[in-house]
Parts: sequence; C-alpha cells; structure tokens
Amino acid sequence: MTEAQGLTRRALLVGVGAAGGAGAMFAAMGALGLAPGEETPKPRFEPPQRSDFRLTGRAAAKVIVLGAGVAGLTCAYELGKAGYDCTVLEARDRIGGRSLTLRGGDTVTDASGETQRAGFGDGVYFNAGPGRIAQWMVTMDYCRELGVPIETFVNNNASAYVYNQGMAAPVRARTARADLYGYIAELLAKATDTGALNRRLDRDDRERLVEFLRRFGDLGERLDYEGSPRRGYTVNPGLTEGTALPSPGSLADVLAGGIGRSVTMDFGYDQATPMFQPVGGMDGIVAALARQVGADHIKTGMAVTKITDLPHGVEVVCGQTVFKADYCVAALPPNVLAGIPGNLGADVTAALRVPRPVSAGKIGLEYGRRWWELDDRIYGGVTETDLDITHIWYPSHGYHSARGLVVGYYATDENAVAYAGLPHRERLARALAQGEKIHGRKYREELLSSVSIAWERQPHIGGGWVRWPSFTGGFELLRRPAGRVYFAGDWLTHLIAWQAGAMESARAVVTHLHRRVLSAPS
Ligand code: PHE
Repeated sequence: MTEAQGLTRRALLVGVGAAGGAGAMFAAMGALGLAPGEETPKPRFEPPQRSDFRLTGRAAAKVIVLGAGVAGLTCAYELGKAGYDCTVLEARDRIGGRSLTLRGGDTVTDASGETQRAGFGDGVYFNAGPGRIAQWMVTMDYCRELGVPIETFVNNNASAYVYNQGMAAPVRARTARADLYGYIAELLAKATDTGALNRRLDRDDRERLVEFLRRFGDLGERLDYEGSPRRGYTVNPGLTEGTALPSPGSLADVLAGGIGRSVTMDFGYDQATPMFQPVGGMDGIVAALARQVGADHIKTGMAVTKITDLPHGVEVVCGQTVFKADYCVAALPPNVLAGIPGNLGADVTAALRVPRPVSAGKIGLEYGRRWWELDDRIYGGVTETDLDITHIWYPSHGYHSARGLVVGYYATDENAVAYAGLPHRERLARALAQGEKIHGRKYREELLSSVSIAWERQPHIGGGWVRWPSFTGGFELLRRPAGRVYFAGDWLTHLIAWQAGAMESARAVVTHLHRRVLSAPS
C-alpha cells in the first residue's frame, strides 16, 4: 500500500492498536512482517516414538550407525526413542569424534605416532574441538533435553586485546573499536554535513544520521573524533575521575593496524554474543547422548573395513567381525568414508571426494596463575591477531580459581598446516613466541603444561571440517540414502563445523528412515 492510497502502515497500526489493544497490534505487525518472528520457520522435528508402530503391523528396525560422533550418537538417541535396535560402531578408542574434551591424564596420538599426555590439574579441561554454541542452534535444545547444564561463553570481550603485526603494541579491543568507530563516524558525519549525501538523503534523514553518528563515534561539537573515554583509562575512575588513555593515533595509523577484521568477529549470525558452553566441558553433550543410547549399544575400536548394501539389509565388516542390520547410517567424515570399500556405487564415491578437508588445530596452555584475570583483567573472551596463532581464548569458567587453561592458538588452513607439521614441542615453542608478543614473559614463564591437536592428523577423522566447492551435485546426492545406507554429519548441512549441523543432519536422516520403516511393505 502506498501513502497515496491514504493509509500508511503506521496509521493502520495506530488504528488497530486503539481498537484492539497491544495484542491485536502485535498480531497486525506480524502480518505486515514488522514484528520479530522466527528467522527460520522450519518444520518441527518429531522424534520417532514407540506408539508410531501401533496399528501399522510393523516394528522398529535394526540399524548400524557408523561413528560415535555427534551425528551418529544423535541418530542412535533419536531412533532409540522408538525402540530401534541401534549398534554404534566407533573406530577410535573413545566416543565423541571431534567433540573432544581433554583432562588431566588423557592422551592424544597424532598420525605421526607422537603421543601427548595432558598434565592438567583438577578441574582444568581443554575443548580441543567445538567450544561455543550459538543461542539459536539446536545444540541448545539437546542440552536442555539431556539435562546438560550450560553457562555463558564469552565470545567478545572489550578487555581482550587486538594485536596485528605493524602495531607498536597490542591494544584493548575497546580501544581499537572506539578509534575505528570514531573515525568512521567522523568521515561519514562530515561527508553528510558538507552535502556529499544530499542526493540520497533529505534534510530530516541527514539530521538523524548525524545525530546517530555523534553517538556511534562519540564525536565532538564539530564532528571531530578526538578520542573518547570509551577507549579506556590508564588510571580508572574511582575517587578521582581517572586518567583517560592519551588521544588516539591518526586515522591512517588506525587503518594501517588493520583492526577492522579483528573487531567484527562477533558480528556473524553464528558468532554473536552471548554464546554458551556446557559446564565442565563440551563432551558433556556426547556423554549425555551416549548414556541415553546405552554403553552396550556402542562399540569402540571398531574400524569399518567394508560396507555392503544388500537387497533386504546391510552388511558392515570390521576386520573379522560381520554386522548385519536392516539399515546403516554412515556418520563418518566424507574423506574417511571415501576410503572404505563397499558397493555404494561410483557416483557416491566420487561425491564423497568432492568436499575438501580443512586443516584446523588448537593448543591448550595450562597456567598455575590466572594472570589474564589478575593482571590483565580479562575474564573470558578472545584476543584477535594476524599472527599465525589467529586467536587466544581465555576461559569462560573457573574465574579466580587456582589454575586455568588458555587456548594459545586456534588456527585453520595454512596456519593450521604450519603447526600441524611440527612435533608438539615445536608447536608449543612457536605458539609461546607469538603469544609473548601480546602478553609478555609471563606467557612463557608461568606455563605449567600444554597439549595440542591437529585435526587433519587425527586417525579416523582427517580434518577439522570440510569445504564444498558448491552445495549442489554431490552434496544433494549424499543427502539421499544409497539403497539402505544413509549419510549423516555436519558436512551434509549448511552448518559445517558446528555440532548443530551434525544434529540437524541426524534428525533429517532419522525422519526419513523412520517414515520408510513405517511405510515399508510388511
Ligand atoms: N564453529 C567453529 C567456531 O566457532 C568454526 C566456525 C567458525 C564456523 C566461524 C563458522 C564460522 O570456531
């Protein structure tokens, strides 16, 4: 409807509000697309139930699930609700796949054969895989359903640092942000003020924009950015008004620091703060799923050597042992599946080779004093840097306790490859040399122990996650079963590198498989 038609949307809403009250107005706003609503109106997942089989004359089937990662365990958990007889075969000696939390005494062995043993003290843990959950992700629903307690994960902390090569010294994220926003606001406000935007904006709009920019950048009377208390203090306010940091560098300096990338990290839909983590370690989720599935239904140390789709069932071979079932869900990484012999067809094998494994690695650094809290006043959050360590994560739990663990690098792609190629001792030396540029000597001197992981070197996993050149062709093919063999994993969704992707994929497979069983000729 146009204004010329005599009734603006606002006038309509005012009318509806007056006649029907706030509830009617909110409903009308929804109809006009103005009220907050579901970003993704998706069909609700209906878990299979035992009662679904009543009156159908059919029974729950026998299913072999390959892989006790998040996707495989979610499949077995959901199918188990309807009484499916699931057996989960896991090649590694522990469940969880990439959802790996390391504690004192745990070991990790690299494809090179090097074994590290975590020497962490009581209560210290290292989420070597996933570490944060966005509020909108289905992972949160599983935490609630499974009774896994969660706590805030600090994904953005104004007190953390930004450090890029070429900067004289690290600056606090708040300082970097204040300067960047300040200068952007100044530029835009002055452009507006001198008429550069007159063709786009009428006078009212220009006034509103400048008013906003004054606040956005904390600009002065003449629209100059001259620094701001937002940047921080050398002496904090208290009994005195404090001493604000000296005035900012020039716009050229701020831009040369390249801080834009660093201060926009949590702008992403999947990175927006607050995020969450399970209390006590990310593996609380897989542990809870496994408890529901039942230890007797999960077999570790079972590497699959052959998968055969048969006219009326499936056959899975692990060395000398042969498993038979009605269906199979292959919840393994595509790069691993591609190497397992079977009869799923050349097109399936070709499709499995399309997504490319991405390198990803982390190092956990345990300290005997939480210097980042005590000295730096950083309670959780992330320091962003263009050094090869990419990020430093501070723990979002255990504040003020005796020890703590900092993630000293979380690198992907070529940075991860560089660390992966080194023995742990050298990974550590390199990470310390980099982190020291930000945190100084205590970063090296107060270290108690460390563990690193290179996901592409983890047996039966072979990568941090995968990247598809395009979400067509092979991607679509593998979202459908090959005969009685289904595929599941984050790699079959648009939430790659998220547990939520694995869970969404598992739900899709479970829904399809259950419908098929319910409608199969009896
Ligand atoms: N989920 C991972 C993380 O949060 C990897 C990832 C990063 C995925 C950024 C998407 C975007 O670190």
